[in-house]
Amino acid sequence: MTRRVIIDTDPGIDDAIAILFALAHPELDVAAVTTVAGNIGIETTTRNALRILALAGQGIPVHPGAGRPLKRGSRTDTRIHGVDGLGGVAFPEPEEPASSEPAHMALRRLIADAPAGTIDILALAPLTNIARFVEEAPDVARRIGRLIAMGGAVREPGNVGPRSEFNIAHDPEAAEIVFSAGLPLTLVPLDVTRRVRADAVYLARLAALGTKQALVCRDLIAAYFTGTSGGESRPLHDPCVPLLALRPDLFATHSMRLSVNLGEDELAGALEPGEHALAVAMGTDAPAVLDLLAETLGQALSSPRTTSHQ
Ligand code: BDR
Ligand code: CA
Repeated sequence: MTRRVIIDTDPGIDDAIAILFALAHPELDVAAVTTVAGNIGIETTTRNALRILALAGQGIPVHPGAGRPLKRGSRTDTRIHGVDGLGGVAFPEPEEPASSEPAHMALRRLIADAPAGTIDILALAPLTNIARFVEEAPDVARRIGRLIAMGGAVREPGNVGPRSEFNIAHDPEAAEIVFSAGLPLTLVPLDVTRRVRADAVYLARLAALGTKQALVCRDLIAAYFTGTSGGESRPLHDPCVPLLALRPDLFATHSMRLSVNLGEDELAGALEPGEHALAVAMGTDAPAVLDLLAETLGQALSSPRTTSHQ
């Protein structure tokens, strides 16, 4: 069965891989892409989303969203993702302008207009846009099919603080709003994404596939090796979200009660035992997940979409 999805993203090397995977998989129908400041500023994440769609030849609308967290200053990560957010990897120029409809309003319109439960949100970034949408239109938000969000660290150390992960730490207040909204949310923390890793053998496998999206993903991961240090493999955080959307059976998901640390110190954005009941992916069949990612990137992309821009 095909699932309609909206991808909320801050591309971002691993965001780009996740988007290309979703576009290549015949059972995911990407209705729109919404962008947010995160790995890099909003102008660049929006431009990068348009460049990724241009590479894929897909006329899917891109709605620019929040340029900063709800209550805090931005933190970017050009060290990992490069000054262009995509590790300097060559992408075509955008073929379309971004939509004039902001992300939170597009989320509201698309979900209100669709039958209840038929659109999933794949959240690959700080939750600022989704928090705005949920606060402004809680009744519409209850029509979301599934919200699957990369973020947090439960038993793993964090990646921007001892216990905090980038997407949650960038906008902890947004995460707390989304967690408390009673949505069908599955969180995909570092506990899982650090198990889904690309090494040199995987890069060679992508290269051998020969499709343009596999080759660009190979280049993106190679750039990720340049921007980070340590070990012989790199975690593929954001691709775990569309992978879980398609194959939840490849992930071990547990019910947990969590809250977000809203302090100002190094624990800001850390997940703590709390009051919000969430489904949290804590394990995965990493070889099967990596196989699905490579097999999908090796498939021909579907025909260009003709969705009109709004
Ligand atoms: C998350 O932070 C970003 O740098 C990645 O794109 C991913 O969404 C991992 O902590
Ligand atoms: Ca991201």
